[in-house]
Amino acid sequence: MQLWKGRFKKELSKTTNDFNSSISFDSRMFREDIEGSIAHATMLGKCGIISEESQADIISGLQSILADIESGALKIDPEAEDIHTFIEGELTRRIGDNGKRLHTSRSRNDQVALDIKLYLKKEVVNVKKLVVDLIKVIAEKAEKYSDTVMPGYTHLQRAQPIVFGHHLLAYGEMLLRDVSRLEDCLARMDEMPLGSCALAGTTYPIDRTVTADLLGFARITNNSLDGVSDRDFCIEFASVLSIIMVHLSRFSEEIILWCSWEFKFVELDDAFSTGSSIMPQKKNPDIAELVRGKSGRVFGDTMTLLTVMKGIALAYNKDMQEDKEAIFDAVDTVKMCLTAFIPMLDTMRVLPQNMRRAAAGGFINATDCADWLTKNGVPFRDAYKATGELVARCIELGTDLENLPLAEYLAVCDVFTEEVYDAISLERCVSQRTAFGGPAPELVKAQAQRVKELAENLSRADAKK
Ligand code: ARG
Repeated sequence: MQLWKGRFKKELSKTTNDFNSSISFDSRMFREDIEGSIAHATMLGKCGIISEESQADIISGLQSILADIESGALKIDPEAEDIHTFIEGELTRRIGDNGKRLHTSRSRNDQVALDIKLYLKKEVVNVKKLVVDLIKVIAEKAEKYSDTVMPGYTHLQRAQPIVFGHHLLAYGEMLLRDVSRLEDCLARMDEMPLGSCALAGTTYPIDRTVTADLLGFARITNNSLDGVSDRDFCIEFASVLSIIMVHLSRFSEEIILWCSWEFKFVELDDAFSTGSSIMPQKKNPDIAELVRGKSGRVFGDTMTLLTVMKGIALAYNKDMQEDKEAIFDAVDTVKMCLTAFIPMLDTMRVLPQNMRRAAAGGFINATDCADWLTKNGVPFRDAYKATGELVARCIELGTDLENLPLAEYLAVCDVFTEEVYDAISLERCVSQRTAFGGPAPELVKAQAQRVKELAENLSRADAKK
């Protein structure tokens, strides 16, 4: 059934109807559509635009439709143009003429903008909850491994010693920023567009704040053209989701590396790894690889939204129907990735000895050796050069700085004493890095606690809402 009969003499052809229809992907907003319509009808009644009797009829009709869709008694018609059309048509089928009064002072243009906002406002919260859960797992692991020495890398070359907890907490910080981006995005999205109507508002004496209050919006939109043609909130949410995927993808890449025999810093639980159909020895980090791979979908969705919106004249254009598949896919993908990633990380076995062994190679205490000289009066550039010579000598002799005899040190610089060995021990190298934000175990422990507390507060605040 088409809503816009009257001007037209013919029905849409089947192919045009299929092409035009969005029901296959917007039917997931049936709750929001009904919730929005109930609020709209309530407002129309309150403002005297429809009678009390019509209002009551519409609301109970909509409630029965909601109950029937939820119970499965009412199937959403795949031939309908969209979810808005389907529900309005079904309402009229059930209650007759009063059903036709629902769309007074409303257009599908402001209706769809409202529905997406209602739907995404919930999804922002759902994604945030998952991100917070991940932060909690990270903080717990970081606390446990706050003194587990591992190599820190630049250019994927061993650079300076750190502790595993410090490395994990770097992701904790990224994800905390993601949470704050989600909160910002939600706050900006919290504007109710209904009452913008097709594009130019309405002549009926509506009260938009009534609808906004009923639906739990913080504000109403200020401009009717903007109200129906804004999809910034989709683009912004997709951008935030993309950044989350960047973080999950980097983390996945590291887990994949750490699982390899070349690193063997961690081992994934059997429940989160897969085998090979031909190579009996294989244990593959498929979950991490899929998360890394799925980041591409979310970036693609963001690009879709940007491209759909960039060239359309105000106000509504049908191009905008393309917004939903993109933003829904981005949301679904991120939720799915987080749901798989959290228990994978939680059950991941850490192998501290292997980390320690890797940290002992590659001269990652060279900076500390140079720093020791500097603290004993040698200018840093000279200390750097002397240490470089010592590293070259170690490579020549097939040894490391810890085992190089003092005579070799003295041959390069006569400031060296036995004390240098203590300064370049890996444990000292990390425990001395006490400048705020550094990897000294006591700092890492404190940071892990701080991050855990922040995450718990976020959960508590969400539970209260
Ligand atoms: N299904 C449409 C969408 O998703 C609803 C709005 C239709 N408005 C219109 N003027 N054709 O965007």
